[in-house]
Amino acid sequence: MSSRKQSVLIARELLAGGLEVRGARFELRRGGSKAKRSDILDLAAGGEAVIIDPTDPVDEELLAAAGRQLLVVANNAVGYDNVDLEACRRRGVLVTNTPDVLTNATAELALALTLSAARGLGAAESELRAGLWTGWTPGANLGTELSGATFGIVGLGRIGRRYAELVRPLAAELLHASGSPKPDAESELRITQVGLDDLLRRSDFVSLHAPATPQTRHLIDAQALSLMKPSAVLVNTGRGTLVDSAALSQALAEGLIGAAGLDVYEAEPSVPEALLKAPNCVLLPHVGSATGKARHAMARLAAENVVEVLEGSEPLTPVS
Ligand code: DGY
Repeated sequence: MSSRKQSVLIARELLAGGLEVRGARFELRRGGSKAKRSDILDLAAGGEAVIIDPTDPVDEELLAAAGRQLLVVANNAVGYDNVDLEACRRRGVLVTNTPDVLTNATAELALALTLSAARGLGAAESELRAGLWTGWTPGANLGTELSGATFGIVGLGRIGRRYAELVRPLAAELLHASGSPKPDAESELRITQVGLDDLLRRSDFVSLHAPATPQTRHLIDAQALSLMKPSAVLVNTGRGTLVDSAALSQALAEGLIGAAGLDVYEAEPSVPEALLKAPNCVLLPHVGSATGKARHAMARLAAENVVEVLEGSEPLTPVS
């Protein structure tokens, strides 16, 4: 009988988690934060498990490089649009994600971006840091208030719902556009399901929480943006592909909408030049889940999923 330890590839980095505790049972391979695609492909060869970040594609090439013995891909994120689920299914590879543990962190970041974009905090801070602040000026840096506003939430899953809870005390009206009715949330939070166009026309703040799928690609395009109020604020902490960034840049430049707050981009880590230059756009580097509590819990959950599968049990949070 072979005494070879099962091998787990941590494609980039994993914060201290379950694997550290039980890691002695496994051979751990680590790509590190600067790993190139070719490094990940090389390191995956012959392994039983891969723990990977949401910006690394898990496709036929990676699965083939890993080989037939690969049992599980643990995505270190709740979103799994980077994973070719069909290719994994064909090869009998299980896929897991990290739901729940990052819900508060991501919803809170969406609220922070909403506030920040509404009040132009990015531009105001840059002005101050650049030494351009000349003193208190009644008409300078005028923003919009959240109190009494209509909030539109696109995608009322875990994070969208938590965002709805956070803004409920401020909102005059809460709307959601989702694939299905959410009767519990609707009655508890007094949130009304409407069509996307209706939501875009009526909302002062629109926050995106839909998953990235072929159907939701460029859900917010030029036509959608043209329906929004000229004062409206768009917030995206979901995935970059939900928004046509060229159309958004143009809408911001032409005053078609008031402001935007973005945490995610179509081709991360690249950020379109037009957005970098837009003063009415707050930009963050995909930090939605970046609290110590959430990121450590994500690492633990990803690792525990791997351990469960390698020990012959069901994973805790499989992607269905
Ligand atoms: C996720 O979990 O999908 C987040 O985008 C990671 O921060």
